[in-house]
Amino acid sequence: MADGAPFPTDFDTSDVDPDEASMFAFQVYTYKMGEMVSLMIHLGDRLGLYRFLAGKEPLTAEQVADQTGYHPRWILEWLRGQEAAKLLTYDADGETFQLSKVGASVLADENHSLFFAAGAFAAPQEPAIVERLAEAFTTGLGLSWEELGPNGAHRTERMLGPWSRLAFVPNIIPALEGVKAKLETGAMVADVGCGAGLALRVLAAEFPNSTFHGYDPSETALDIARKKAATDGLENISFIHAGGEDLPADQGYDFIYTFDCLHDMTRPADVIAAIKTALKPDGTWLIKDIRSSGDFVKNHKNPMLAMHYGFSVSSCMSSAMSEPGGAGLGTLGFSPPVAEEMCRAAGFGHFEQHDFGDPANLYYEVRA
Ligand SMILES: C[S@@+](CC[C@H](N)C(=O)[O-])C[C@H]1O[C@@H](n2cnc3c(N)ncnc32)[C@H](O)[C@@H]1O
Repeated sequence: MADGAPFPTDFDTSDVDPDEASMFAFQVYTYKMGEMVSLMIHLGDRLGLYRFLAGKEPLTAEQVADQTGYHPRWILEWLRGQEAAKLLTYDADGETFQLSKVGASVLADENHSLFFAAGAFAAPQEPAIVERLAEAFTTGLGLSWEELGPNGAHRTERMLGPWSRLAFVPNIIPALEGVKAKLETGAMVADVGCGAGLALRVLAAEFPNSTFHGYDPSETALDIARKKAATDGLENISFIHAGGEDLPADQGYDFIYTFDCLHDMTRPADVIAAIKTALKPDGTWLIKDIRSSGDFVKNHKNPMLAMHYGFSVSSCMSSAMSEPGGAGLGTLGFSPPVAEEMCRAAGFGHFEQHDFGDPANLYYEVRA
């Protein structure tokens, strides 16, 4: 059932002002355009078209097709759509198309640009997942990250990757008291909710004297993580199939971090309590979580607010509601006041907020 049939249809809007209705319909259709352009960005990323266009002179569709091996008719339609979306430029007679340098930084340069965004454009959700989400409005039970499958873990890593790849080691680690020196000497480190493990691979490569453990309840994500760590030849990482609730309570870790995951957890308070007992008395816990004020009205200054609620219903809150009694914090739910209250309730005495200029996230340095 796709059209919400059980509710009445006996209302009449035929007297609304047609101009107002037209403007409202335009607003609604901008989201449809976003859906269509999103798919085109996904295809451009997946087919390598942005990487191909990066740094090139203006090219005709025929030239792009010749040099990529793709079909010219399909390339022409894609190029015209990308120009219409203002992601490519074209010459005055509409024959040649170009990706600007700034466009290449956002759409093509995954390794060097903090603003690389094309990785966020996954293929549309599978119908079975959408069906489960619709059912969740009745049952209250969402899907865990594991149930989103490899696509969920892969998309998350590509979307969140630039800050792990480019800012974690040079900007974030040095701002945490004493952490860099411990990592250089040899520290025990846990990434709780590590997903596909990019942040761990980055740290493990930089600090070979330290030992890194990745914890995640999603075997699918860990499978990707293990393969990538092996490809990188990193021997100082291991992965543990467990949620943060099951961290060893032996005060063994010098440094624990949780990136974009506390708001996804069904029992974040239990995980925070477990982190407290897993950390050495002088250990540091770094939290990265979504930039949010905790106040729905104030959050309207975020131009991406509606997107965050979309992420929440489709993955974050869904995951945080995937067990009966789940906390259900959701994408914007682990705001600074909530974070501080939960950390202090678990017995942490030091709670310091950092703003590293990450447009999507805030960071908290937490110690006993
Ligand atoms: C948005 S992803 C973030 C992954 C990774 N930290 C990153 O930044 O790319 C959220 C992750 O939290 C994990 N997660 C959910 N509940 C968890 C729990 N109780 N303990 C540890 N991880 C959990 C999910 O399986 C998922 O991999």
